[in-house]
Amino acid sequence: MTIYLNGQFMPIEQAQVPVLDRGFIFGDGVYEVIPVYSRRPFRLTEHLARLQHSLDGIRLPNPHSDEEWAQLIGELVERNDGEDQYLYLHITRGVARRDHAFPNPPVKPTVFMMSSILTTPPASLLQDGICAVTAVDNRWLRCDIKAIALLPNVLLRQAAVDAGCAETVLIRDDSFMTEGAASNIFVVKNGTLLAPPKDNLMLPGITYDVILEIAQANGIPCEVRRVGVAEVFAADELLLTSSTREVLPVTTLDGKPVGSGAPGPMFARMHALYQQFKREVMRK
Ligand code: PDD
Repeated sequence: MTIYLNGQFMPIEQAQVPVLDRGFIFGDGVYEVIPVYSRRPFRLTEHLARLQHSLDGIRLPNPHSDEEWAQLIGELVERNDGEDQYLYLHITRGVARRDHAFPNPPVKPTVFMMSSILTTPPASLLQDGICAVTAVDNRWLRCDIKAIALLPNVLLRQAAVDAGCAETVLIRDDSFMTEGAASNIFVVKNGTLLAPPKDNLMLPGITYDVILEIAQANGIPCEVRRVGVAEVFAADELLLTSSTREVLPVTTLDGKPVGSGAPGPMFARMHALYQQFKREVMRK
């Protein structure tokens, strides 16, 4: 695998970062995951806008213009295998003597990117759905920043794995659903898609936008609003979305079947529309 680090392309085995990098010491940085279809980064403009939002959120100047990012990302994609790739982009506040406050004067940020082959979820997951658990959303109040400090998300995801499941659905204040540990979650009730609003309590998913756009274009009723915990447990269907997992049905929640316990008609429809969108839009 060829990676990009601070201005250079190199084999991943050669890539090194100093131990005083603030990403290593404080988790002081932000990241993006960009799916690449037929060697084209999908929704690059939107991913770069979200990156800028994350950088603004941690007060770190963007080290590159959008044109420079597009050029660097294009070159990394060319240098790696796979028509479809999963591109990871990571920026930290750089290397400095350990002090919580920002380095003054500022130091150069660390810029790292890697790209590996993107595989779509296996057929078994589409047929049977996945199992999820719920947990208290104990993260901070800036979940709209795609921060590399992911310890809460790591622990929340591991809680699902410990229960033999694939994702954790997060509940804030004992009251409403925010998202998954590394995904967005939609509730389906009586043929309507219910989506939590893009606020400071969830990551504004690029796939989330695609799902809402596709639904609206096909006359599927959608409501963007807070989704109460009771609505999650009374859902006909639950859908999980992310750049790497596309759209998946959650068929078991906390050990109980979601709706019928099998992937439902909304999932079948959204998955088919998503695949069509991939063929007709993402690959073009
Ligand atoms: N995670 N919410 C959280 C907390 C996430 O980490 C992700 C994606 C999403 C979905 O966003 P998108 O549709 O833009 O992928 C929502 C990526 C895939 C990751 O951390 O690997």
